[in-house]
Amino acid sequence: MTLAARERLIVALDLPSVAAAETMVQRLGDTVWFYKIGYQLAFAGGLSFAKSLIAAGKQVFLDLKLHDIGRTVQKGVESVAELGATFLTVHAYPQTMKAAVAGKQGSTLRILAVTVLTSYDDADLAAAGYDMSVAELAAARASQARDTGIDGLVCSPAEAADLRKLIGPGMVLVTPGIRPSGAAPDDQKRSASAAEAVVASADYLVVGRPVLEARDPKAAAEALVAEIDEARH
Ligand code: C5P
Repeated sequence: MTLAARERLIVALDLPSVAAAETMVQRLGDTVWFYKIGYQLAFAGGLSFAKSLIAAGKQVFLDLKLHDIGRTVQKGVESVAELGATFLTVHAYPQTMKAAVAGKQGSTLRILAVTVLTSYDDADLAAAGYDMSVAELAAARASQARDTGIDGLVCSPAEAADLRKLIGPGMVLVTPGIRPSGAAPDDQKRSASAAEAVVASADYLVVGRPVLEARDPKAAAEALVAEIDEARH
């Protein structure tokens, strides 16, 4: 995949209102082309805002992590495809993934699967009734995602290199948990720098707080683009 460094940075608009998101998008200007909208903003007018971002030429990743019966997922994905979003997340259950792939047909929407939430450890999986380790379940679901025709996976930078070996070059890998070297990890336990994520074969990097909370968000985003660009050479 040949993407310019700037196309590979996705800023997570984890903000409480459309007004706050609009202010941030304005501050970031031409530095950022791709935005992620998750639960917080989506349920506060963020879906209409997604449409205006797309109309303004930006790309949008809707991080809605869908999971329901097949028909409901398929119909929901058809509606998301109408919005013109680029990426949508679903949980990596076979029925859900199959329905999402059916729902996006004929659109440019790409479906990303979340294998196992990174907040889960082996004990959490056992408590949820699974008789598998996180690593085993994530690998099994990644293979199922590939076989179902899912476009990509969301994973931590620490898993990216191993997952790339498992799924091959055709799927996109999107990694959150990016922290500039020396920055506060916040609640990210397995963070990596932008350069490390690129070297581990991530195609797109999702960054939230290191940009949103920077004194100069545009400068922080520019520094990340430069780091991504540098890591490719
Ligand atoms: O602020 P920060 O850079 O940690 O934001 C990362 C974004 O990526 C958040 O929107 C969060 O929901 C998302 N994310 C994550 N870890 C995952 C999956 C998604 O941090 N495993």
